[in-house]
Amino acid sequence: MSWILFIKFANSKKTYIQMRKEKLFSGKTLAILSGGGDTPAINSSIEQVRNRASMLGYKVYGIRKGWKGLLGDGDIVDLTHQPYKGLYGGTALLSSRTNPFSKEPNSEDRVSQIMQNIERYKIDVLVTIGGDDTNGAAKRLYEQEGIPVIGFPKTIDNDLRTQTIHHYNGKEIEAVINPGFPSAALGMMEFTNRLRTTTESHSRIMVVEFMGRDAGWLTGSSLFGGAEIALIPEVHMTRERKEFFFEHVKETYLRSRKKSLIIAVSEGVRWYNDKTEHLEMVYASSEVDEFGHPQFGGISGVVAAEISRKTGLDARSQISGYYARSGDCSEYDRKLTSALADKVVDLLLREEYGKMPVIKNVVKYKELEEYNTSCVDMGAIGNRDLPSDYYDENSFRFNDAYADFLSNIVEKPIVSRFDIDFPIVIPK
Ligand code: F6P
Repeated sequence: MSWILFIKFANSKKTYIQMRKEKLFSGKTLAILSGGGDTPAINSSIEQVRNRASMLGYKVYGIRKGWKGLLGDGDIVDLTHQPYKGLYGGTALLSSRTNPFSKEPNSEDRVSQIMQNIERYKIDVLVTIGGDDTNGAAKRLYEQEGIPVIGFPKTIDNDLRTQTIHHYNGKEIEAVINPGFPSAALGMMEFTNRLRTTTESHSRIMVVEFMGRDAGWLTGSSLFGGAEIALIPEVHMTRERKEFFFEHVKETYLRSRKKSLIIAVSEGVRWYNDKTEHLEMVYASSEVDEFGHPQFGGISGVVAAEISRKTGLDARSQISGYYARSGDCSEYDRKLTSALADKVVDLLLREEYGKMPVIKNVVKYKELEEYNTSCVDMGAIGNRDLPSDYYDENSFRFNDAYADFLSNIVEKPIVSRFDIDFPIVIPK
């Protein structure tokens, strides 16, 4: 080693040791919670925020079961120097749909319980990983009680407004990209694709139900899985549209090479009920959660039964349900959560609270970097339906603009086909 290099090395080492001693936020505590439905990218978000916050000198706590972990005596674990498996799906901090502002009986004092625990555990900053409900509540606590909060997006439904711009054919479409959606879209694309073999073998119509609540973003991933028709909550299935739909289904089925068809249906589709003469949604239960959300489930069965009745074709239904939320974090989600965690560092350094990092533009994997992030005010997040630019109402299909959006996030699978026409044997 030359002398110059040695001196440089010694200096940089000294600086590093000094830096370690004088960490910017040493003595401070940052706590992370995850609320609402889990996604495959939450552990990745927790790990990446934890790693960066530790580097800044924070002690990092995990609050278990969302807001519930700040009620009563609190349910809090220390994440600071613990191993963490960010690629493992779900959330190791557990989740709940606890609403700090719930109107349920005996829940009036939740905010004061939260405030007491914030003080007892000496939490200086709170990072809330969630959708509109979790982050909306966090923002309210920030404004009302002064808790410094930073939001972190997550949802497989992809309906949390991130103001992410999709540049397509000279147009700027206001799209959305939330951590969790890329992994879920990948899983659902594969799920739909797998169903082709059984559907083909029975010359059937398969109606596949997708999670996503009131938005059709996730249902769109069926496009790369081979679904030719899709129904989304944004376009209501009125009596007239239903008639047109049945005709379209029959025609598409008869035109298909294998006499089979996959139809993707969002769980939140509004479907005209011939008996009640109303547009209705199908629920799995009459219960609602603390944020007033009902539990969807079963529309695919209703649609399949009516297709069979109206067209005489053999139709079956398959609810994909929690499959969309299951499994490991995808590569895209890993890098997305990393870029957003870098933006959290920026917010921490600036001490800017009440904000949530988002991806600025719809980009491919390699451009998922901090320079491509920005922030939105947590009070103004709200939900974003699927833009009409992505769906063609006449053909009941996600269009090329959506295919372009999706191709940034997941790779279109190479679909294997078995299209041989065996020669027919005629008895002599
Ligand atoms: O919001 C995410 C989501 O998975 C929705 O798509 C679905 O309707 C809902 O959560 C199901 O929630 P739960 O886990 O409470 O059944």
